[in-house]
Amino acid sequence: MGTVNDTALNKSDAAPEQPGAPSDRTATIAPAVRLADVAVRFRTKKKDVTALEEVSLDVARGEFVAIVGPSGCGKSTLLKLVAGLLAPSAGGVALGGEHVRGPRRDIGFVFQRAALLDWRSARRNILLQAEMRGLPAAGARARADELIRMTGLDGFEDAYPHELSGGMQQRVALCRALLHEPPVLLMDEPFGALDEPFGALDALTREQMNVELHRIWRETDTTVLLVTHSIPEAVYLADRVVVMSPRPGTVTEIIEVGLPREREYAATLASAEFRSATGRIRELLGAAGAHD
Ligand SMILES: Nc1ncnc2c1ncn2[C@@H]1O[C@H](COP(=O)(O)OP(=O)(O)O)[C@@H](O)[C@H]1O
Ligand SMILES: [Mg+2]
Repeated sequence: MGTVNDTALNKSDAAPEQPGAPSDRTATIAPAVRLADVAVRFRTKKKDVTALEEVSLDVARGEFVAIVGPSGCGKSTLLKLVAGLLAPSAGGVALGGEHVRGPRRDIGFVFQRAALLDWRSARRNILLQAEMRGLPAAGARARADELIRMTGLDGFEDAYPHELSGGMQQRVALCRALLHEPPVLLMDEPFGALDEPFGALDALTREQMNVELHRIWRETDTTVLLVTHSIPEAVYLADRVVVMSPRPGTVTEIIEVGLPREREYAATLASAEFRSATGRIRELLGAAGAHD
C-alpha cells in the first residue's frame, strides 16, 4: 500500500478533478474506469509478491471488458483495486473521473461463488443489497421484481438457495449486484474458476448465463469488467479482451472484438471474427506458457 499518483491519473484525456466542479460533468468526459500505471506489491512475512506492474487501462462508459490471464497474474487484485477494497502501491485508480480512495458503494460485485444466505429466499437475498445500503424498501422491491423477470427467475422468488440450481444461484447473485443500479459491475470468474471444476456451472448453463448476461448488459448501460478463464466466454461477451501476462501481471495485449452488439450465440461462435479473436488470445496465452 502506498501513495496514489494523481499525475498518472490525470495525464491524458480525462478531465482532472476540479474543486467545486460538478462531478457529473466530469463523469461524462472521463472513462468509467481508469487504471493508470498501477502496481500492487504484497508484503508477507516470507516474501514480497508483485502482483501487478505498470497496468494502465481505460474502460469507456457502457463498455464490456473481459480480462483473461494465467492463474495468479493479479486479475482478482485488479478488480479489488477498482472496487477500492485494495489501494495500489503505485499509480492511481479512478471511477468516472473520481479518484478511488476507499471502498466504493457505486459498484456491483459478483464473486466466483454466489455467496447467498441459506436462510433467505431468492428475493430476500437480492433485497439484502438494499437493506445494507438503507435504500427505500418499495423502490427496491420493484427493482428486485424487474431483475427477477430479466434473469428468468420468475416463480423462484420464494425458493431458498438449496432449492436452486447453480445457475439460478448465480442469477440471484447477479440480481443482488445490480439492485442498486451500479454504473460499474465487476465479476470475478462468476461462472466457475479453473481450480474449481466441480463448483463450476455445467457447459450448457454457462452458455445460457453468457447469453443472459449479454442481454442484461445491452438493456442497461452498465460498464462491465469480467474476469474469466474461458476464452470463448470472454470473446462472446466483451467489446475488448485484456490479455495479461503471468505474474507480475501486466497488460500483454488488448484485443478488440469486432462483433455486433447483438450476438446470437451459435452464429457468433461460428463467425470468422470469433475464431480469429479466440485464436489470437490462445496464441498469446500459450506463449505465456501458463494456461490450459
Ligand atoms: N492479500 C494478499 N497477500 C499476499 N499475497 C497476495 C494477496 N492477494 C493476492 N496475493 C498474491 O498476488 C498474486 C495475484 O493474486 P490474484 O489477484 O488473486 O490472482 P488471479 O486472480 O489472477 O489468480 C498471487 O500470487 C497471490 O498469491
Ligand atoms: Mg482470481
